[in-house]
Amino acid sequence: MGFQISLFFVLLLVFSTSILAQDLDDARLVIDANTTIAETDDNYICATIDWWPHDKCNYNQCPWNFSSVINLDLSHPFLANAIQAFKNLRLRLGGSLQDQVLYDVGNLKTPCKQFGKDKSGLFGFSKGCLHMKRWDELNKFFKRTGAVVTFGLNALHGRHHSGRGSWKGDWDSSNAHDFIKYTISKGYRIDSWEFGNELSGKGVGASVGAKQYGKDLIHLNSIIDELYTDIEPKPILLAPGGFYDKSWFEQLLQVSGPRVVNALTHHIYNLGPGNDHNLIKKILDPDHLNKISATFRNLSLTIRMNGPWASAWVGESGGAYNSGGPNVSDTFVDSFWYLDQLGMAAKYDTKVYCRQTFIGGNYGLLNASTFVPNPDFYSALLWHRLMGKGVLDVNGHRSSYLRSYAHCSKERVRTLFITHCLH
Ligand SMILES: *[C@@H]1O[C@H](CO)[C@@H](O)[C@H](O)[C@H]1NC(C)=O
Ligand SMILES: *[C@@H]1O[C@H](CO)[C@@H](O)[C@H](O)[C@H]1NC(C)=O
Ligand SMILES: *[C@@H]1O[C@H](CO)[C@@H](O)[C@H](O)[C@H]1NC(C)=O
Ligand SMILES: *[C@@H]1O[C@H](CO)[C@@H](O)[C@H](O)[C@H]1NC(C)=O
Ligand SMILES: *[C@@H]1O[C@H](CO)[C@@H](O)[C@H](O)[C@H]1NC(C)=O
Repeated sequence: MGFQISLFFVLLLVFSTSILAQDLDDARLVIDANTTIAETDDNYICATIDWWPHDKCNYNQCPWNFSSVINLDLSHPFLANAIQAFKNLRLRLGGSLQDQVLYDVGNLKTPCKQFGKDKSGLFGFSKGCLHMKRWDELNKFFKRTGAVVTFGLNALHGRHHSGRGSWKGDWDSSNAHDFIKYTISKGYRIDSWEFGNELSGKGVGASVGAKQYGKDLIHLNSIIDELYTDIEPKPILLAPGGFYDKSWFEQLLQVSGPRVVNALTHHIYNLGPGNDHNLIKKILDPDHLNKISATFRNLSLTIRMNGPWASAWVGESGGAYNSGGPNVSDTFVDSFWYLDQLGMAAKYDTKVYCRQTFIGGNYGLLNASTFVPNPDFYSALLWHRLMGKGVLDVNGHRSSYLRSYAHCSKERVRTLFITHCLH
């Protein structure tokens, strides 16, 4: 009987009065509150902190300021408040440069240097390094603010570039091993370790074959098992943190085998490049918004057929890529994309949805220079406070401009929540 208390959430995309008159007048929504069709994690809302330094620029604009894992101002009062507003906010630390990060611990033989511009480096930057002093500060901050942390490990370490973006050879686990060991010795709690960033399929910048990746995941899993012996809770293992590619993902699950990868993390940038002049048009176009459902559907099939022990997470999703769309990703209209994504992903049994970014770029929930929340911050917070884990089916006759998603409520009250109605 738990479902009689349900929360109803309506997102209206209405752009022309004719559509309003014609289709919304006879909209009929039927919510089946008897059964849930999917279930999210308790902490579905997640946001990322990236490694991009302040001199990462796109389209003659440098919107990152000091918002990276390495230099974010952890003492800024807005930052702690914004995280604490969620009570427990999931944060995923990762991004393009993560596969070039070294950890300054153990037998690291190279000096610990910061990222610098380097034309021959991946994404135009040299390798970077995380000092343990900074790691200590970060963990103190995460503990104080109640953040639930996913850390993305460097999955290219020890491999060699073999042409056309393809990287070959076994992963060198030594630096990650020492880093995890240090983390445990300090009592820092990591919810999940993630392996690699955008190396799946054809990759973005670099790629690694699924067979090799699966082998390395078995190895990483055994390191976690060994280092966390008698330590509870043991973090879960996430991979590959990249774009969905059917055969690559299938093979990864087949090679790594039962219960190695706990969740498949995939990335979504379904609005195209940040300088696309049609961003707003795409955000308000139901056909465009619907296209990505094929990815969610296929991924859930991939899991069911090849690795039913794993769940699906959106590990990084910012709408528009290359730092987001100026004046779009940081404004009200972006919530039409973001809230629709949260609803759609949950329907396909996605457990966690990580927004790129919590802070940094044009798509930050917080503005990277002022730390003031952007509109999507409040969308994330409303979702987190109102929407429960149980996803309900919504049927009936309605225009595709009316986006409707229903969940059991978090608080046990019946709520009607209408987010946007644009005439
Ligand atoms: C939900 O359950 C009630 C009570 O068991 C039943 O009367 C009703 O037909 C069910 N509704 C649907 C849509 O299955
Ligand atoms: C989903 O799977 C179908 C059937 O295999 C395929 O035709 C389609 O291209 C896939 N789409 C995506 C986005 O993976
Ligand atoms: C953003 O919008 C403001 C106000 O409409 C405008 O002044 C500014 O030039 C825009 N900036 C960009 C990068 O489009
Ligand atoms: C942050 O806010 C400032 C001041 O309002 C604005 O000029 C800037 O464009 C914003 N930056 C981003 C990345 O949204
Ligand atoms: C970052 O933001 C601050 C505050 O708005 C500004 O003073 C500073 O110049 C910015 N730095 C960079 C590298 O953009």
